[in-house]
Amino acid sequence: EGLHSLMVAAGKLFFGTATDTNLFNDTAYQSIATNANEFGLHVPENSQKWQPTEPVEGQFDFVNPDTVASRARAQGQMFRCHTLTWHSQLPNFVQTTQWTRETLTLAIQTHITNTVTHFKGQCYSWDVVNEALNDNGTMRNDVFFRTLGTDYLAISFLAARAADPGAKLYYNDFNLETLQAKADGAVRIIQLLQQQQQSTSGAVVTPVVDGVGFQAHFNVGQTPNKTSLMATMSRFVAMGLEVSFSELDIAHTRLPATEAALRQQAEDYVTVVDACLSTPRCVGITVWEFTDKYSWIPSTFPGEGDACLFSANMTRKPAYSSVSSFL
Ligand code: XIL
Repeated sequence: EGLHSLMVAAGKLFFGTATDTNLFNDTAYQSIATNANEFGLHVPENSQKWQPTEPVEGQFDFVNPDTVASRARAQGQMFRCHTLTWHSQLPNFVQTTQWTRETLTLAIQTHITNTVTHFKGQCYSWDVVNEALNDNGTMRNDVFFRTLGTDYLAISFLAARAADPGAKLYYNDFNLETLQAKADGAVRIIQLLQQQQQSTSGAVVTPVVDGVGFQAHFNVGQTPNKTSLMATMSRFVAMGLEVSFSELDIAHTRLPATEAALRQQAEDYVTVVDACLSTPRCVGITVWEFTDKYSWIPSTFPGEGDACLFSANMTRKPAYSSVSSFL
């Protein structure tokens, strides 16, 4: 018994976690991470991003994400791939080159073709474009948008589709669950991609985009309710897509957390799981690390933390027990 087994019994594909090779020598951590009944899918937390995989233009290094992938496979766990075109964790050359439309298009295509081809057949899904939107729903003014406008979206998805026709291709972002204007922006992105798909494929309808990932980085007591989460997901399901919660964690904004706050966190986790179970096209949930020991939250949002299902000493928190008994 474990979260993944229970999730599969409930008709979903996976309950997964982010992890990476820097944590491979922590045995207490590994005994949980490698339990395929607990976490049935792994996604590299950092090592598959553009900076680590192509630190110098044209020079690729897949040793770390390969290690995550092969170990997941050996344990019978699924593998999710993250991420290709993203404004953050970019190599220097992407940020400093004076790009033209032509040269940046080629750089994106080269990165995606090499990376997606390398992992061909191994990824349940790829987060092809990550965090393209501002919170107000306009396009983020990053190097991709400044050089190519919205064309970089289709350039990225078409390159990924050509390199691995079997991987589900996702648009992934945060705050879509809480900000209507940002969800509106994501709907526009999907519309653009679906128009592109018709004009490039003619009569043959090969989807360019298969899914939307909701990062679900929430705060305790401020997690959207089930109705609201389901309503947001349904906008994308209505466009023919599958959905998932792709980086779930629920951070305390006051530390140390009180007993009451731990109970609220448990309730909030159950709300998210409940919304996925009640949405037939929600395929699964991935937490962004399962232990407070390794959560990215405290270093990124000072004063916040303890966002995970397991404590820093690897014991199950009330959130774990509540999710487990809910499932
Ligand atoms: C984070 C990692 O967890 C950190 O270790 C790293 O320092 C920064 O990136 N959205 C994403 C993830 O799509 O890739 C980010 O991961 C968290 C926010």
